Amino acid sequence: MQRPEPSQFAHLWGLDSACVFLNHGSFGATPLAVREEQQRWQNRLENEPVHFFEELMPTFLQDTREALATFLHCQSEDLALVENATTGVNTILRSLEFQEGDEILVPDHAYQACRNTIDYVANRWNAKVNIVKIPFPIEDKSIVLQNILDCVTERTVLAMIDTVTSPTGLRMPFEEITNELESRDIEVLLDAAHGIGMVPLSLDELGASYTTSNCHKWLCAPKGTAFLHVRKDKQEKIHPLTISHGMTFPLGDTTRFRHEFDWTGTRDVTGHCSIPMAIDFLASHVEGGWPAIMRRNHELAIIGRNILCESLGIAPPCPDDMITCIATLPLPSSNSSGGIPLHEPDPLHRELKEKFGIQIPVWSWPSPEGRYIRISAQLYNSEEQYVYLSQALKELL
Ligand SMILES: Cc1ncc(COP(=O)(O)O)c(C=O)c1O
Repeated sequence: MQRPEPSQFAHLWGLDSACVFLNHGSFGATPLAVREEQQRWQNRLENEPVHFFEELMPTFLQDTREALATFLHCQSEDLALVENATTGVNTILRSLEFQEGDEILVPDHAYQACRNTIDYVANRWNAKVNIVKIPFPIEDKSIVLQNILDCVTERTVLAMIDTVTSPTGLRMPFEEITNELESRDIEVLLDAAHGIGMVPLSLDELGASYTTSNCHKWLCAPKGTAFLHVRKDKQEKIHPLTISHGMTFPLGDTTRFRHEFDWTGTRDVTGHCSIPMAIDFLASHVEGGWPAIMRRNHELAIIGRNILCESLGIAPPCPDDMITCIATLPLPSSNSSGGIPLHEPDPLHRELKEKFGIQIPVWSWPSPEGRYIRISAQLYNSEEQYVYLSQALKELL
């Protein structure tokens, strides 16, 4: 079979042309110009490290927080720059104090690393983890909200909610969930790992206590760039995982939150410094900027999913409004992996890569038990790539 061409935007990325890259969702992919921008920051840092860290860096990181605040409709002083969403989630959960018997609510589609953090923290405080079952396939997003509210008790103090779930690719009705829970005095920790650059976010209006999102995924910034947004009234109790100078530094006209998060020891901040350019760069290549990029990727994910559903003879597992730029599909049940454990690689993943050059995640999911694939749609992807994937699956399944 002839390898399909990517889209007309593919030249902006340096992706291996022998690979049909359909997994932007796992780690993102950074355009060449943004990588060059980071290199420029690295050169600038290494030209005079003391001057960079002590004199220049605070202003550069402030510029980054301001660029993010404009994008996210929030205030720059409420943002902390962290390395990834796992760190963001850990920062919140390990800062909070719980009473014995307090309940932390989490849907069963949560990302396992973040779920592990909840279990670890709950265990330490003798708190209870209350797992909300969300069906998949699912008919309507209202089911998510209802199932979550059904699990709320008077002991529920915190809920970790995804913007978009990782294994099942579902866009959660996170705005309604946040509104309902926060109005009941239940803190919401929004795991928006798939968030910025994928779905419009208006953080002040949203009103979640805590939000963390990866810039290295859908914003296409360098790896190791994420933010943590903490609502002002919650900032006093939140500390970085690394306690450093900021804890005792004279306050001046800023906040303890700022001091503590602005310096967590010497680290490579060049990825964070590149964020303003990353935002402008992709926006300048698509008429309509980021709203148009998000819309285009969403539409392509729907097209890709429809191509696969038709070819595999399966119904879409969720309505179109629960899809963003990733979509998970069950593979026909007769071809179920037959109980490949969750953490073991599925041989189909390797076969797709080795025989067809397709990079796509394949995993098992417990309910209903089976084997699933998750497509991604980013600017560099083309419709033909999903047709090619459908043909490859037909041959392998
Ligand atoms: C929902 C969700 N949360 C958290 C993460 C972790 O992201 P990172 O590895 O960048 O910390 C991911 C990664 O895919 C995710 O999908």
